[in-house]
Amino acid sequence: MELPPRPKLFDFHGVSMTNYFTGNWDNVQNFQARPDDILIATYPKAGTTWVSYILDLLYFGQTAPERQRPIFEKVPFLELLIPLYPPGVEVLDKLTTSPRLIKSHLPVQLLPKSFWEQNCRIVYVARNAKDSAVSYFHFDRMNRTQPEPGVWNNFLQRFMDGKMVFGSWYDHVTGWWEKKQTHSKILYLFYEDMVEDTGREMDRLCSYLGLSPSADEKERVRGGVQFDNMKKNSMANYSTLSIMDFKISPFMRKGRLPHFSPIPLSLSVVPSSPLYVHHLFFAHYSLSLPISHSSGKVGDWKNHFTVAQNEQFDEDYKKKMKNTTLQFHTVV
Ligand code: A3P
Repeated sequence: MELPPRPKLFDFHGVSMTNYFTGNWDNVQNFQARPDDILIATYPKAGTTWVSYILDLLYFGQTAPERQRPIFEKVPFLELLIPLYPPGVEVLDKLTTSPRLIKSHLPVQLLPKSFWEQNCRIVYVARNAKDSAVSYFHFDRMNRTQPEPGVWNNFLQRFMDGKMVFGSWYDHVTGWWEKKQTHSKILYLFYEDMVEDTGREMDRLCSYLGLSPSADEKERVRGGVQFDNMKKNSMANYSTLSIMDFKISPFMRKGRLPHFSPIPLSLSVVPSSPLYVHHLFFAHYSLSLPISHSSGKVGDWKNHFTVAQNEQFDEDYKKKMKNTTLQFHTVV
């Protein structure tokens, strides 16, 4: 099977995009939302699949045959137009389940207007900037429908410049945050809160959506969406999607990253990081050690950022985020 070519980034209404997300634009903009639709909106790599799977299990977990379909079919990606797969809009138009669960990475200003007209419920998930950047980097390495990521240092600079698919992380998270202040149908969640207490955040979701699962049902869903369970679940881990190369990096990264070390062995990694200790310990023994990854989900950036990158990022972050009340719950 021929794989799609890597796309180029271009400016699209002030947002960096590729043709895999703009190629169907008229149909995306004219998309007819239904009043009971639930939109899961995120900047890429914020935990979209996690929340999608939670909602899928809460709504349709009892329906046995339904569970045998991969999550990207059950929660279609609105603006997606990639070779080998039907366009997101087309899949959604044919979907008869109620509610429809819809995924989108569009910045708030580009969302089709029918979502606002129909007053749809929207769940937005945000993840801290540094972990988002790291996760996005590995995603672009393994996903052929994303632009070539290049080396980590340049990628990080592009992230800070907003030259990513779906544009600037800073504009995305703050744009949706500002919208939430005036629009009551947006539930704004944080990935870090979900890691800290998945059950509590599921309760918030349920109360927002008017769901009241039994204690047993809730526990069953909570178990099903735990990182390790989702990682080995082929219906939730994207392993059935041919455009992703798990030999380069898995969709859900945890444990050792194969064949990859973004930072040459040096003592310049963020001092509190496991990598720093790792470097100190092993510096005499090897010059080509792969990075030891075990921390997983929050704070993985410490395994990637050098001290200099971190300082530059923090300084830039303060400037870009100075006019918003949005605060992330972990040190970024
Ligand atoms: P990492 O790349 O840091 O591993 P998205 O679905 O928006 O593309 O986000 C993907 C990120 O969410 C990946 O981050 C993935 O591991 C993480 N993720 C997915 N399911 C998760 C879960 N059940 N618990 C914690 N993190 C999860």
